[in-house]
Order: sequence, then C-alpha cells, then structure tokens
Amino acid sequence: MSYVLATEGLDYTYPNGTQALKGVSLKIPKGSKAAILGPNGAGKSTLFLHFNGILKPQRGKVIYEGKELRYDRTSLLNLRQKVGIVFQDPDTQLFSASVIQEVSFGPFNLGLPEAEVKRRVEKALALTGIEDLADKPTHFLSYGQKKRVCLAAVLAMEPEVLILDEPTAYLDPQLVRQLIDFLEELHRQGRTVILSTHDVDLAYTWADQVFILKAGKLVTSGRPEEVFADRKLVEEVGLALPWIWEVYQRLKELGWPVEAPPPRSKEELLRELPCPIYQKIGR
Ligand SMILES: Nc1ncnc2c1ncn2[C@@H]1O[C@H](COP(=O)(O)OP(=O)(O)OP(=O)(O)O)[C@@H](O)[C@H]1O
Ligand SMILES: [Mg+2]
Repeated sequence: MSYVLATEGLDYTYPNGTQALKGVSLKIPKGSKAAILGPNGAGKSTLFLHFNGILKPQRGKVIYEGKELRYDRTSLLNLRQKVGIVFQDPDTQLFSASVIQEVSFGPFNLGLPEAEVKRRVEKALALTGIEDLADKPTHFLSYGQKKRVCLAAVLAMEPEVLILDEPTAYLDPQLVRQLIDFLEELHRQGRTVILSTHDVDLAYTWADQVFILKAGKLVTSGRPEEVFADRKLVEEVGLALPWIWEVYQRLKELGWPVEAPPPRSKEELLRELPCPIYQKIGR
C-alpha cells in the first residue's frame, strides 16, 4: 500500500507550554477516506496544521509522497497546491472582501487560464450552494455560510489531498449530504480526503480508515469495523459507538447469522435485518 501522508514521532508544544502532540506516528493510505476522531483538545487540528506545513514539528517528521516536508517558501507553496486544508474556524481562513474574490484567489494564483479559473469557481460555488452569495462581503455572512465559502475556496484548488477540519459542524443536513456526495466524487477520482469529526456515525459510514487521538497521542487506527470492535477502548476515549455498529453487535449477540462484511450504512443494515416476513418469502 502506498501512503500519501505520514508522520513519524511527531511532537508539538505550543508557546504557552501546552503539549498538543506526543509522538504521533501514522500513515494515511493514498486515495483513502480517513477520519480522525478524538475529544476536544485531542490534537486533531494541531495535526492537520502539520499536514500542509503551517506548523513545523518540534520533533519527528511529516512525510508527503515519501519525502520529508521542507519548510522553505517554494516547497511550501508547492505542497499547498497539492494539500488543501479547510480550517475548523472559518474566521481564521477568510481574508477577501467578497465571496467571489475569496473563491477565485487560489485558482487565480495558480496561474491558470481565465476560463479554467471561471469553471472551477462556478463549480465550487454550485457544489457548496453559495452562488447567490457570490458578491456579498464575507464578514456579514452567517457562520455556516462562512464555512461554505471556505470549503468552496479549497475545492476550487482541486487539491490531491483535501483536509477538512470538522467540515460538518454548523452545516445544515442537506449540505452535509451534498458534501459527502462530493467527497465520494473526489475519492472516485483517486484523491485522498482526510477529515476530523465528532460524529462517529459519519466516521463509521464514510471512512475507510479511522484514527483516534486522545491527549496528543494516537490511541488506535484501522478500518472502521476494526477500530469500533474494541468497544472498551472506544468508550475509554470518551467516544460513543456508531449506532449501526451497536445494533449490528446486538443482533449478533441475539443469534443473527453474521454475514461479512458488517453493514456500513442504515440502508445496508435494513437490507440485512432478520425480518421473519423476509425469511418466509425466502427473499
Ligand atoms: N494556538 C494555541 N496556543 C496554545 N494552545 C493551543 C493552541 N491551539 C491549540 N492549543 C491546545 O493544544 C491542544 C490540542 O488542541 P487542538 O485544537 O489540536 O485539539 P482538537 O482535537 O482539534 O480539539 P477540538 O475537537 O476542540 O477541535 C489543546 O489542549 C489546546 O488547548
Ligand atoms: Mg480542532
């Protein structure tokens, strides 16, 4: 398996003495859908800031496509064209006067032809449902609208690796669905998507790799059904079990004939339910 991003023994302490990452070593497979879970203050955002070189490790290293990151201006500019990050707090990210300026800035600076910039900007605005806001000043937008603008700005860059720090927080359910569909499209194109979330149901259903951080340390990682199989560990970290997984485990205990692989979505679970009527008609 080839890995697009990896860290080895990453340590990071903020200037005020808070030790945010403690020896984090992990590998993100190329083309995967990776979810990083962990309670508040676990170090998720700090880790993400290392992935595109905004923070520099104090010990250990960050590796992109097999090469250790370099922190000179040119290397960082190159890296950031390939690894795009949507920050947790949109106010940290927004800097342009209007929505359209914010979303065009990145592609424009890539030196792309004007028609290509226009195509990407229009697509990003449509995907995030903010065409109507294009000419609005960013500072008057609602929090959720600001999150959409930040997302559009990074989507317009069409990065190889897309990093989303709690992308679903503050988004309405319809946009969450649209976002997930779009992430699926990126995945089909072979891109890598990494997101952090507090939503274990989303992580379980969407991700193919799950990483759990707690107090700056990587506690466990693996395929979602492997990670959530260790119920004790998941609960110790302070996370809930995904409801689909919990129902599936309970059905297994009740004697439901287990068919691999376990259901990953509500639809899959419903299809597999041991309903007597289904059995009668020999489905
Ligand atoms: N700029 C900063 N200065 C000092 N300490 C910080 C700073 N940013 C984060 N921290 C601290 O570093 C630790 C890790 O924070 P981080 O934001 O990475 O966690 P997180 O897992 O993203 O949490 P959340 O789920 O709340 O977003 C926390 O103890 C936090 O208080
Ligand atoms: Mg965070």
